[in-house]
Amino acid sequence: MELNVVILAAGKGTRMKSVLPKVMQPLAGRPLLRHVVDTAARLDAVRTLVVYGHGGELVKKAFSETRNEGPLLWAEQAEQKGTGHAVQMALPQLPEHGKTLILYGDVPLTTPETLADLIGKVADVGSMGLITLEMANPAGYGRIVRDIAGKVVRIVEQKDATDAEKTIREVNTGIFCVPNSLLHKWLPALGNNNAQGEYYLTDIVAMAAAQDIRIETVQPEFGWEVDGINDKLQLATLERVHQRVQADALMRAGVTLIDPARFDLRGEIEHGMDVHIEPNVIIEGRVRLGNNVRIGANCQLRDCVIGDNVTIKPNTLIEESRVGSGAEIGPFARLRPGTVLADDVHIGNFVETKKAILGKGSKANHLAYLGDAEIGSGVNIGAGTITCNYDGANKHLTRIGDNAFIGTNSSLVAPVTIGNGATTGAGSAITKDVPDNALAVARGKQVTIDGWQRPTKNK
Ligand code: UD1
Ligand code: CA
Repeated sequence: MELNVVILAAGKGTRMKSVLPKVMQPLAGRPLLRHVVDTAARLDAVRTLVVYGHGGELVKKAFSETRNEGPLLWAEQAEQKGTGHAVQMALPQLPEHGKTLILYGDVPLTTPETLADLIGKVADVGSMGLITLEMANPAGYGRIVRDIAGKVVRIVEQKDATDAEKTIREVNTGIFCVPNSLLHKWLPALGNNNAQGEYYLTDIVAMAAAQDIRIETVQPEFGWEVDGINDKLQLATLERVHQRVQADALMRAGVTLIDPARFDLRGEIEHGMDVHIEPNVIIEGRVRLGNNVRIGANCQLRDCVIGDNVTIKPNTLIEESRVGSGAEIGPFARLRPGTVLADDVHIGNFVETKKAILGKGSKANHLAYLGDAEIGSGVNIGAGTITCNYDGANKHLTRIGDNAFIGTNSSLVAPVTIGNGATTGAGSAITKDVPDNALAVARGKQVTIDGWQRPTKNK
């Protein structure tokens, strides 16, 4: 049976107390809804439809860029009249054949494995399925009512439940898989004669039981797979759960995390052997780490490729950059987008690079700004070197040849080229090209006055 996915995301999320719609709140750096959409993309669905509500234009816009899952379909639920009503809004876009998996924009971490298990149990129009969970404290949830033979007969919401029903600990997670033909038949028949005056999706379970439809239940491997998020506290709690799950997977894959509780991965990491990560490291976007990479405390890496045997010392920031094997970066270094470092480069403390290419073995060990620069191999950049790349209107390139030696506190006023093997004197403002192997000194000559008397204070 063809699979459709409907994601309910019309909730206002009042308890977030944020201008950002609830499903746009980030978990591990990605909107909650993005997690659900990405999970759906792994299930081979023919279409994925998001039911959005008031203020949902922002959500729609954020998701308008097409990704590997193809364009999303959207259905508006202008007024929130319950989960059954929400799915009804999607109905015109669902064919009569196939089946539909119902997910929630604020339940981000259900695994594709658990969902595949559920989907697999609904193989024909004579069956439907739902994910349930045994909870020690089921208060607030819909309860799964079974007959003496153990067959599911209906779901009763907390607010409609009798005291006896409230003792049931098996709860409805809300995740359903239902043949489309049954949805088309049942949803228009839902009533709202209940404590909340809502059209409950859960009422289709009693309809299924009455019509002898087989009701399959699946339990998630972990409780957090079905945790929904309503406020910042739940968001932070699930963030830590998710981070720990990711950290555990990395450790099992051989990465040393000195403290898995102080590690954040907001994206994807690819890594070699013997990667060693100290506390408070944040990895964002797509990051590739070679073998034997060591990352010191408080580093943040986003969208970068780090070669083998690289040491990144504490408090270093790296964005959209490539670092060659054997390089040493930091402490307190900042590699900005477009930095490409060849093997064995050293970038030391308080050095900032941007669109800078450094050849093999070049070193900028302290206090420098290298922007819009093409630097050869074996170059020594003295402390305090600044590429003056910006004239107030445009950016210009600085070229430095192999084995050049840039003296301390040099200002290289771009566009400018320093030749191979050239040297600049300390404190020079270099405004003209320097030929290969030449020395350029551009500073006031020292004047020495012997026996100089300092002024004295007037009496
Ligand atoms: C629902 C279930 C309950 C289950 C619980 C699990 C129903 C009637 N009850 O209850 O059995 O234990 O989830 O968390 O389904 N939504 C819309 N439009 C609406 C109403 C809801 O899009 O008109 C979305 C919300 O954004 C939310 C989700 O559906 O993501 C669940 O809605 P909510 O009102 O929180 O349902 P519960 O009362 O918690
Ligand atoms: Ca809820």
